[in-house]
Parts: sequence; C-alpha cells; structure tokens
Amino acid sequence: MQNRRDFIKQSCTLCFGIVGLGALTTQLAGCAPMPIFKGEAVNGLITVPFTSFTETNKIVIVRNAQLDWDIVLVKVSDTEYQAVQMKCTHQENPLTATQTGLFCSAHGSTFDLKGNVTKEPALRPLKKYSTEIRDNSIFINTKS
Ligand code: FES
Repeated sequence: MQNRRDFIKQSCTLCFGIVGLGALTTQLAGCAPMPIFKGEAVNGLITVPFTSFTETNKIVIVRNAQLDWDIVLVKVSDTEYQAVQMKCTHQENPLTATQTGLFCSAHGSTFDLKGNVTKEPALRPLKKYSTEIRDNSIFINTKS
C-alpha cells in the first residue's frame, strides 16, 4: 500500500514539475527582449526594413534620437503594420512591450498592441502613428 502511495506522489510531483516548466518557458518567451531598431527620421519618416521582422517575431521597438519616446511597431499582416508610442497616457511613464501588449511599471496600466487601454488607471489610448509600406520597408510618419 505504501509503495502505491509513493508511486502516485512521485508521479504527481513529476507531472506538476513538467507543467510548471512549460508554464515558465511560456512566460520567459513572453519576457524575451524585443529587437530594437535605431532609425533615422527623414522629414519625419522613419524607415524600418521588412527584414527587421522574422517569422517568429512580429514586434520591433523603434528608437530615434529625435523622438522623446520609443515606438512599438507591430506586424499585423504582410500589408498592415501598427505603430504606437510607448508613453503611458496616465502620467507619461515609459512603457514596456511584451508579445501581447504594453504595461506601465508606475501604476500598473496595461494596453493592447493597438494602444487601447486594457487596465486603468490610464484612461486614454496610446498615440498612434500612421504607417505606409513601400520599397520593402515600413515608413512610420512621426508627424502624424
Ligand atoms: S504613469 Fe502609467 S499607470 Fe500611471
């Protein structure tokens, strides 16, 4: 009887360990650092080449010395990209991007990758920039 009980206990421990490892792996993948693209702005347009995106990574942080705030650029499809300013609309704190959205470490606001508020205290959506596709690149209009 004791052996059966020990077997069940060991099996459950192993199963929980495997499930826990899987969950941890998923969480770590979500925390993987985003690629940062440092681009020049010409007449307010930042050019990001298609090659900045991969089959597995659809999100790039765009950084430009002339801008006060980074931009998260998301590949929605081959013909659609979304660019959102990474400035919290609550009290102007820099946001952190993940594979599923953006969050603010100051007071906990969260946003989806389209810039919509998903958790208060922020009430307003993030600033969006228009994008255009041409010449194998995405052009972000920082004056839009
Ligand atoms: S500044 Fe972002 S939640 Fe307050």
